[in-house]
Amino acid sequence: MDLYEYQAKDIFDAYGVPVVTGVVCTTPEEARKAAESVGVFPVVVKAQVKIGGRGKAGGVKLAWSADEAEGWARQILGMDIKGHTVYSVLVAAGVDIAEEYYFSILLDRAERCDIVLCSKEGGMDIETLAKERPEALARVSLDPAIGINPEVARAILGEAGFDAEETEAIAPVIVDLWKVYQGEDATLVEVNPLVKATDGKIIALDGKISLDDNASFRHEAHAALADRRSDDALEVAAQEAGLNYVRLEGEVGIIGNGAGLVMSTLDVVAMAGEPYDVRPANFLDIGGGASAEVMAKGLGVILHDQQVQSVFVNVFGGITACDEVARGIIGALEILGDEATKPIVVRLDGNSVEEGREILGQAGHPLVTMVDTMDAAAAAAAEFAAVTLGREDAKVTVTIDIEAEGK
Ligand SMILES: Nc1ncnc2c1ncn2[C@@H]1O[C@H](COP(=O)(O)OP(=O)(O)O)[C@@H](O)[C@H]1O
Ligand SMILES: [Mg+2]
Repeated sequence: MDLYEYQAKDIFDAYGVPVVTGVVCTTPEEARKAAESVGVFPVVVKAQVKIGGRGKAGGVKLAWSADEAEGWARQILGMDIKGHTVYSVLVAAGVDIAEEYYFSILLDRAERCDIVLCSKEGGMDIETLAKERPEALARVSLDPAIGINPEVARAILGEAGFDAEETEAIAPVIVDLWKVYQGEDATLVEVNPLVKATDGKIIALDGKISLDDNASFRHEAHAALADRRSDDALEVAAQEAGLNYVRLEGEVGIIGNGAGLVMSTLDVVAMAGEPYDVRPANFLDIGGGASAEVMAKGLGVILHDQQVQSVFVNVFGGITACDEVARGIIGALEILGDEATKPIVVRLDGNSVEEGREILGQAGHPLVTMVDTMDAAAAAAAEFAAVTLGREDAKVTVTIDIEAEGK
């Protein structure tokens, strides 16, 4: 579970990490009162959404009066930031910033340990920093038996290029951030920016915490932090439809049967899409019984994802034969009607594949392209998305006619 900034900061505060906490408001009037109660201007009005880049999206504003704070709150509340609706704003004291740093602790599954990322160049998003200025980003693996003690903290800060004075000031803060990470069973604690104020104080100005849900049994307090409203709307819809769906950030919608097949479908689409910077948009396993209804629900969820430019249906007929799946797809397109507008690449194989392909062939739906191998189908789906997105050199090269190939 990801937490809001204000929740993360409340936890930071409880562990002694310096923050400016502020007041959470759901109406402009509350924001005015909150600004008055803070009393010192400027105050900052910050959209509370579980996504980064709020500042750039216009969701973080400074106000020099209670009037102005109310105005910003009116503008920010209800705003959509990268698909996340703003239900509340945090009104907090403005900080006179001298320097913005970056600090995070996260679980690196590939390395099977916790790692720290730390940089003197905070503020911008970490992906950009890692790409454009990798030398400015220190990456340190943590010893699980030690974590971050003062000595480790100093080593990390040295590696990131902080001088002795800065190191002395920051080290205790990152030791406490480690205590948050460990004490709360987090998989991510990120502070971007960690700032040095003009008076020399170190403050966690932003905060992001992801909690490990597998450990929730030993954190009774965590349940109260959940907020359904802010969960991804498509994930909620999928959950309600009983689908095994995880939203990702790409452009090619994926439907398959069986978690293993879907996982490998994500891999081949990621590979096929790489030249065009096109990626899988989701994980969706429709499981064993791919009835028209389940297929329609799955396609419906995927086609409501505004990022999606094409869909790849990859089914290996086993218990559910391919002819049923094919009828499922046609049925789904009938149910969806005008809601279906994106090209759909279908690869069927396995039990009753001939019948399945024949059904799809006869239906001749204008959105559906059949491709007989997984790699070629992934390429076609990626290319459709790349063309729609106008990516350089993108064209649809795969127009495989299964009949003509004698299959
Ligand atoms: N309390 C504050 N006082 C002054 N400036 C702030 C404050 N909070 C945030 N900012 C500024 O706004 C920027 C973006 O805020 P941040 O909380 O990091 O949101 P996001 O990462 O979502 O854009 C920060 O880098 C900082 O420059
Ligand atoms: Mg930030």
